[in-house]
Amino acid sequence: MEKTLVLLKPSCIERNLIGEVIGRIERKGLIIRGMKMIQLDEKILREHYAHLVDKPFFPALCASMMATPVVAMCLAGVDVVRVFREMTGATNGRKAAPGTIRGDLSMSGSLNIIHASDTPENAEIEIARFFRPEEVFDYTPANLKAVYEHDEI
Ligand code: TYD
Repeated sequence: MEKTLVLLKPSCIERNLIGEVIGRIERKGLIIRGMKMIQLDEKILREHYAHLVDKPFFPALCASMMATPVVAMCLAGVDVVRVFREMTGATNGRKAAPGTIRGDLSMSGSLNIIHASDTPENAEIEIARFFRPEEVFDYTPANLKAVYEHDEI
């Protein structure tokens, strides 16, 4: 089953929204395969946001991502990368659609609550960046047959 990497950012931790976001993940029927709290540093952020290191906002982005530990999650589901990006919403919380995590919980372009992988290829790279192989658990939740019709998985 496809996997994606999610980070609950310091803006999520500082506003006590960890439970709100995890609740949405659980209610949707996504499988949590891995979850841990980690303190990010500039080295890992330069890798993770390699496409943004030359942007003027990169130092502020780093500072905001290091303000507190983050919660890293590995989620699984059918088409989970696309499904969870749609649940995440547009980058800027003021432009994200109502009903999305950012659209409902953020008013900022940078303090936007969560990160979610944008492609299955990047998801594999990002999961390997934040999790050791033994920290991602390959189990079958008992409710899986209530989440999917038998021919969907
Ligand atoms: P990006 O990868 O473009 O967006 P997304 O998180 O939606 O995949 O940007 C990464 C993070 O960089 C984004 O979540 C918040 C921050 N950021 C800014 O602070 N200002 C900006 O103008 C952009 C584009 C991003």
